[in-house]
Amino acid sequence: MKEKIVVITGANSGIGKAAALKFAAEGYRVVMACRNLTISKAAQQEIIGVTDRAQVDLMELDVSSFASIRSFRATFKAKYPYLDILIHNAAYLNHGEKAYKLSPEHIELSFATNAFGPYLLTHLLADHLAKSEDPRVLNACTTNIKHFFDPKRNIEFDNLRGEYRETRPYSVYKMYGDSKMAFLMLTFKMAEQFKSQGIKVNALQINRVKLSKETIQKMSPMFRMLAKLQNFTNPLPTGMADNYYQLCTSQDYKHATGLLFNHKREVVQPSISEKGFAQLKNIFGSRNYPQYAIDPIQVAKLWDLCTELTAED
Ligand SMILES: NC(=O)c1ccc[n+]([C@@H]2O[C@H](COP(=O)([O-])OP(=O)(O)OC[C@H]3O[C@@H](n4cnc5c(N)ncnc54)[C@H](OP(=O)(O)O)[C@@H]3O)[C@@H](O)[C@H]2O)c1
Repeated sequence: MKEKIVVITGANSGIGKAAALKFAAEGYRVVMACRNLTISKAAQQEIIGVTDRAQVDLMELDVSSFASIRSFRATFKAKYPYLDILIHNAAYLNHGEKAYKLSPEHIELSFATNAFGPYLLTHLLADHLAKSEDPRVLNACTTNIKHFFDPKRNIEFDNLRGEYRETRPYSVYKMYGDSKMAFLMLTFKMAEQFKSQGIKVNALQINRVKLSKETIQKMSPMFRMLAKLQNFTNPLPTGMADNYYQLCTSQDYKHATGLLFNHKREVVQPSISEKGFAQLKNIFGSRNYPQYAIDPIQVAKLWDLCTELTAED
C-alpha cells in the first residue's frame, strides 16, 4: 500500500502533538511542521518512542512568515513526491498580549499565522495535494467566532498591516477571533477553488481543550493561574485530535468539502436568523455559524487581500 503522508503545523504541543501521535500510531508518515526545532525535536522523539514507529519527520516552518512557508514548500517538494493530508493546526493567541505585533512581512501577527499563512501554504502545496488519491485539508477554527453573531462585529480590514496600531486599542482576543473568522471564510472559498482538483477543504470548530504545559508556561502569572483552573474541567487534546484523524481519513467524510464541523463532528450550518430566540440558540448552541462567514462582500474583500498580500514580487 502507498504510504500516506500528513503534514501537521504546530505539531509540537497540544492538539497538534496529540494528532501527530494518533496519525503515527495508525501508520501514516507524519511531517511535524514546527517553528522551533529544538523544542519540537523532543516532541518528535516522544512520539516515536510511544508509537514505536520511526516515520515521524520534523521540518522547520514558521506559519506567520511567507518566506518560511516558501522555503518549507521547496524542501517539502524535494523530499516528498505527494501530500495526502494538510492540517492547519498552528495558531497565534498570546493570552493577555497588549502589543500589536507584526509578522516578518508586516502583517498583524494573528492574521499572518491564523489566516494568510495557511492560505499561502495550501496554495503552494495544492499541486502536491492533487497527486493524492484522496487529498484533504483541515483548518482548526474556534467557537470564538460566535462574537460575529453581533451585527456590529467586523474584521478590521483597514488595520491588518499596522495602519492604526498607534491609535486603535488592540485586543489579542478580538484579533484572534477575527483571524479565525477569516480562516473559516477562506475554508469555504478554497473548497470551491480546489474542487476541480479533487482537494477537499473543511474546518473544525474547536470548543475547549486542556492547554499544554508548554503553552501555559509562556503565559503571565495571572493567565497561567486561570488556564490551570480551566484545565481542571477542559477535556484532553486527544478527543479533538481524534476528530482531526476522523475528518481527514474516514470514508464518512471522503466527499465532504466546504464544511465546518463542530466538536461532535456534526455539520455546522449558517444561521438563518440572528435575532431574538434564534440568536440565543446561535450563541449557546454549536450548530450554527454567523452569516458574516458567507457574506459575499466580506469574502471578496478578504480573498482580494489574500491574493495581494501573498503575491510574489
Ligand atoms: N485549546 C483550546 O481550547 C482551543 C479552542 C479553540 C481553538 N483551538 C485551536 O486549536 C489549535 C491547537 O490549539 P492548542 O490548544 O493545541 O494550542 P497549543 O498547544 O498552544 O499549540 C499551538 C501550536 O501552534 C504553534 N505555533 C504558533 N505559532 C506558530 C507559527 N508562527 N509557526 C508554526 N507554529 C506555530 C505552537 O508552536 P510553539 O510551541 O513554537 O509556540 C504550538 O505548537 C489552534 O489552531 C487553536 O486556535 C484551541
